[in-house]
Amino acid sequence: MDRQGNLILQYGEPRGFTPLREELAEDHKDVTEDEILVSNGSLQILDIITQLYVKPNDHVVVERPSYDRAITIFDRAGGQVVGVDLQKDGVDLEEFERILDTYQPELFYTIADFHNPTGVTTSREKRERIAEIAAKNGTLIVEDSPYRKLRYRGEEEPTLRSFKPENVLEISSFSKLICPSIRVGWVMGQPSIVQEIADYAEDTYVTPNLLSQGIANRLIRDGWLEENLRELISSTALDYRQPWIV
Ligand SMILES: Cc1ncc(COP(=O)(O)O)c(C=O)c1O
Repeated sequence: MDRQGNLILQYGEPRGFTPLREELAEDHKDVTEDEILVSNGSLQILDIITQLYVKPNDHVVVERPSYDRAITIFDRAGGQVVGVDLQKDGVDLEEFERILDTYQPELFYTIADFHNPTGVTTSREKRERIAEIAAKNGTLIVEDSPYRKLRYRGEEEPTLRSFKPENVLEISSFSKLICPSIRVGWVMGQPSIVQEIADYAEDTYVTPNLLSQGIANRLIRDGWLEENLRELISSTALDYRQPWIV
């Protein structure tokens, strides 16, 4: 409040608090701040993307099973939700290709890192194929990655966005890294789509919650977030070694 109260107490940029967008761009490395919009939680962004891209009877493909609230958002827009079986390393690729050929869906919604509810992480090979198949069919991918940073062991897989940046919107959130009530989530994607989302957002709520975004920005700049992440990972990784968790 002392340092940036003049910005965070006012209406402002519909894309979110600029210092936070700069911070996120620096963290992700493969995006610029023009390719990032920060909003009131990632579900709000998923709802905007759905309003923009899913018209009644359009098809939306999801992993089977998938996150219930995402399915509710697609249903509410009148989308026809089609599931593809999830295997240990991601969706069944043959079924995925067949479904995309058959329905030419508008969206494929995926949680490629530590999937909710199954915990599955999609393999690198499948990520690359999924990105190619979706691009060939003109299906926009929404890659929802709130758990990506909560990796307890092993190497990070590349994002789907890294394979086809023009055809993937990656959304993420501080809900699991700071706390859910802060309601700060973001989307990264090609500038023209981010601009469309920003226009819709401005017409809906003028400015997202800049006070929360200012708090998130401070927690990053003061090093608290990094420390909290280390703490979350080390305490949960300890539990992970307990024999009752398989
Ligand atoms: C896959 C997934 N996406 C989104 C969310 C909600 O994110 P937010 O709180 O940023 O709206 C959750 C919360 O459980 C989730 O599991």
